[in-house]
Amino acid sequence: MTMTYLLGLDVGTSSAKAVLIDASGTVVATAAADYEFVTPRPMWAECDPADWWQASVDAIGQILATAKVHSADIAGIGLTGQMHGLVLLDASGEVLRPCIMWNDQRTVSQCRMITERLGGERVLQLTGNPILPGFTAGKIAWVRDNEPHVYAKAAKVLLPKDYVRYRLCGAYFTDVSDASGTSLLDVARRKWSDQMLEASGVPGQWMPEVTESAVASANVNAQAAAATGLCEGTPIAGGAGDQAAQAVGCGVVREGILSATFGTSGVVFAHSDEYRVDPEGRLHAFCHAVPGKWHLMGVMLSAAGSLQWYRNTLGQEQVALARQTGGDAYDLLTAEASRVAAGGEGLLFLPYLSGERTPYPDPDARGVFFGLTLRHGKAHLTRAVLEGITYGMRDSLELMRALGVTSDRIIASGGGAASSFWRQMMADVFQTRITTTNVTQGAAYGAALLGGVAAGVHATVQEASHKCLLDTSQTEPGEDATVYDDYYRRYRALYPALKGEFAAIAELVQRHQG
Ligand code: XUL
Repeated sequence: MTMTYLLGLDVGTSSAKAVLIDASGTVVATAAADYEFVTPRPMWAECDPADWWQASVDAIGQILATAKVHSADIAGIGLTGQMHGLVLLDASGEVLRPCIMWNDQRTVSQCRMITERLGGERVLQLTGNPILPGFTAGKIAWVRDNEPHVYAKAAKVLLPKDYVRYRLCGAYFTDVSDASGTSLLDVARRKWSDQMLEASGVPGQWMPEVTESAVASANVNAQAAAATGLCEGTPIAGGAGDQAAQAVGCGVVREGILSATFGTSGVVFAHSDEYRVDPEGRLHAFCHAVPGKWHLMGVMLSAAGSLQWYRNTLGQEQVALARQTGGDAYDLLTAEASRVAAGGEGLLFLPYLSGERTPYPDPDARGVFFGLTLRHGKAHLTRAVLEGITYGMRDSLELMRALGVTSDRIIASGGGAASSFWRQMMADVFQTRITTTNVTQGAAYGAALLGGVAAGVHATVQEASHKCLLDTSQTEPGEDATVYDDYYRRYRALYPALKGEFAAIAELVQRHQG
């Protein structure tokens, strides 16, 4: 009997991750291959698109070798990846310079200039967002202003996963969700915006064709088939930016469903049947990977990343103990934190270790422990970090609630969702039921489902998600919810009180160490 398989490929920030699933959604094999990005100057981040291709070839090769499936049985491929990066190609399809990545902040003045041309309100109306330095439009303008010799040869603009697609099929495509992060898409109409292109100085013919996420773009060509072992002619779905694919991979495919992903960054994501924009532009409003739908998203920059920093600095005792006992340092830290009462006897932590994006787009924001007394020990510090991260996610949730987004549950995913202690804290702080699903491969899994819809294995994205995802846990808000609510109000008061001091400290550091 021939089986049908689907391949998802996630071209991430530091690795390419591949997952192979069958038509029922069971994971058959996973593989990953790493690469690195460089920071040639403070606040810059670049990488070589050739590395993504090599890592993708390696990951696909590993998948085919371990799963022992015939590549002809792979019915469809879905791509996802880090968003916002600028890959600039010349007319013959050669990469002109390293990719300027999503976490690169060099384009502040270009973003300001484009915004001034159209007015902030018009930009927000057209693109659903302010033009952020991480987004693609400012990067194209930066190349024009700073590398005119490169700009003169430019003929095509691609996003990271779409460069890998180009190597797979030789054609230039992107999808609506990833295109939403360029500041060049008319997000309501799901097509490139002439006004935004003109204001940004980008010729329309540089942009790839935009498709919905769950339809086929092009097929694997002979050259890529020879390089990867995939079958020539396999359809490649439009795919999605990593957050939209992650949402599909955990079931956020209907109005009223929200997810909270506790990865290095923290993302609160809501499906929206309508195009809704936060009038102050603090939440991102992007096209969703579900055809004809949108999503709202809050991105906090250091969620589990704050806990990782804490483990690496103040949690070395737990790291050593975990090494001796074969346990996990994070489990030891959360066990210790669970012995302290909710609210940590007044100790609060602001998780702005790499500045912040939502709700405060402020690169100068800093981490803070607030309220230390002689009674506070390590366990209180640990608990404050966990609570501070969770309050930061509630900030995004509150912005959504203010826009009328309602839900009777939030699907938690990412490293933080594995801890039952933290899940209880999420339910209490968010005052909503928290559920988890059987899928842990996130974005790559969601991409595979999109590949399945494009190939006709699944009828719709909703059907794919319904067939393949199962709830694995449910946590209801408990008695600590009111305690957290009180402390959350104090947490919210801290950033406005400290904003000026953050800027002053950043200026001092620049003056003395910059
Ligand atoms: C989304 C975002 C990140 C990057 C890297 O807006 O900036 O998700 O795509 O993962």
